[in-house]
Amino acid sequence: MSTTNWQRQDVTQHYLEQVRGAIPFGVEQAKIMLQVINHFTSSPKRIMDLGCGNGFLAEVLLKSYPEASAVLLDHSKPMVETARNDMNDYRDRCDIVHADFSQSIQKYGGKGSLDCIVSGYAIHHLPHEKKRELYQEIYELLAPGGIFINIEHTASATPELEKLHDELFVDHLASHNKRNRNDVAQEYYNRSDKDDNILERVDLQVDWLREIGFNHADCYFKWMELAVFGGTK
Ligand SMILES: C[S@@+](CC[C@H](N)C(=O)[O-])C[C@H]1O[C@@H](n2cnc3c(N)ncnc32)[C@H](O)[C@@H]1O
Repeated sequence: MSTTNWQRQDVTQHYLEQVRGAIPFGVEQAKIMLQVINHFTSSPKRIMDLGCGNGFLAEVLLKSYPEASAVLLDHSKPMVETARNDMNDYRDRCDIVHADFSQSIQKYGGKGSLDCIVSGYAIHHLPHEKKRELYQEIYELLAPGGIFINIEHTASATPELEKLHDELFVDHLASHNKRNRNDVAQEYYNRSDKDDNILERVDLQVDWLREIGFNHADCYFKWMELAVFGGTK
């Protein structure tokens, strides 16, 4: 299993308590995910959430689709434990797996068996070649007509834009958590999980999806480095 800072309790707790809710347009991103899924597959039954964290995206989907069940997968023990707790209301429709998506995920789905695969802020921890391989695997796991949506941290087009993204993100964190901006900036720029980020531009990743064979592959929403993109099979 690959090792990242996400396997640490303090990192996962900080993310869930101070970052998840502060993500700019986080609610809108989930809304757009649902709108695009609804348009292409009105009632997905078999769902997978890769790098599920506490189950944030899976919960939105299971709430929206009462007949659906989901496999939630994460390589962080503290996150899996939190997901088991937070997703308790959905326990009959959830399979929460402690696993690493940098290794094959075929055994958690089966070829052509899934209607919808989502991921939130997780795949950018893989090297680019591994990202592409995972997108290929996702395509193979999807049933014809199935859909993949990735809500993701992507690379800025230029270093200046990256600076702007970082400054605006700090603004959001400080104001959401009602904390001193300097303290938040200090924490943000020195955070331990920064080194786990291997960001790639969203336009390039959408091109990979097209090359793999995804239809309607596009970026459906973007604010600075945060993008909602995907495609259908
Ligand atoms: C920033 S959190 C996002 C959690 C959740 N998807 C959300 O939208 O809030 C990233 C998650 O991806 C998981 N992750 C990172 N690399 C992974 C890998 N190789 N295999 C499985 N999970 C991974 C981390 O453990 C962490 O829970």
